[in-house]
Amino acid sequence: NRHEWVAAASLTVGAAAIGYLAYKTLYSKDKGSKLLVNLDIQKDNPKVVHAFDIEDLGDKAVYCRCWRSKRFPMCDGSHTKHNDETGDNVGPLIIKKREA
Ligand code: FES
Repeated sequence: NRHEWVAAASLTVGAAAIGYLAYKTLYSKDKGSKLLVNLDIQKDNPKVVHAFDIEDLGDKAVYCRCWRSKRFPMCDGSHTKHNDETGDNVGPLIIKKREA
């Protein structure tokens, strides 16, 4: 009868929804849906790392965190254009001697 049909249809739709959500949670994160942070710096390098000795930093060092600097890993101000174009809000890491 009609009630049984509605119940069966609801069950099917519910099962499909749960299946879809489970699939989405478990699998779709690894399918390239995430956006890249690094667009073109040392792309042949499996992991871009920079290391500096503290003694060599001088009074102030400004490091890029937006990955758009032409002087990476130093900031060249490119974050301003990136923020304007994308609505992002990133800026540099500044390491400096405390002002006396
Ligand atoms: S250019 Fe990347 S943080 Fe300034």
